[in-house]
Amino acid sequence: MLLVRLESIFTLDLYNKFYLNSIKILEVSILLSEIPILVDKISKENVNKQALRTAIIAELDAVNLYEQLAEMVSDERIKKVLLDIAKEEKTHVGEFLALLLLLDKEQEEELAKGREEVKEILEG
Ligand SMILES: [Fe+2]
Repeated sequence: MLLVRLESIFTLDLYNKFYLNSIKILEVSILLSEIPILVDKISKENVNKQALRTAIIAELDAVNLYEQLAEMVSDERIKKVLLDIAKEEKTHVGEFLALLLLLDKEQEEELAKGREEVKEILEG
């Protein structure tokens, strides 16, 4: 059985998070360490979709992390850069979501349904 931890495919965002966690500066929940993938049990197509979903989780988590750090710091220069990076992470969410929607038509349909249901609820 081959277990792969997908964090190994990610770069600086997660490295920073693990580093911060390891030196106990912050209490950071590490979502990806709890997501081992049984690569030999799923199809290649599903590996791709699951990798993209995991990447989206990581990017959303990075948005939260950078926004939380921005709220923590008192130096306005650091705050400004952290918020700019948080915004870039939102772009990364969009990139991975665009790829996922190419592979997962059901997700594309359900995303549209969800948007429509919220519109109906809010408009009464
Ligand atoms: Fe990112």
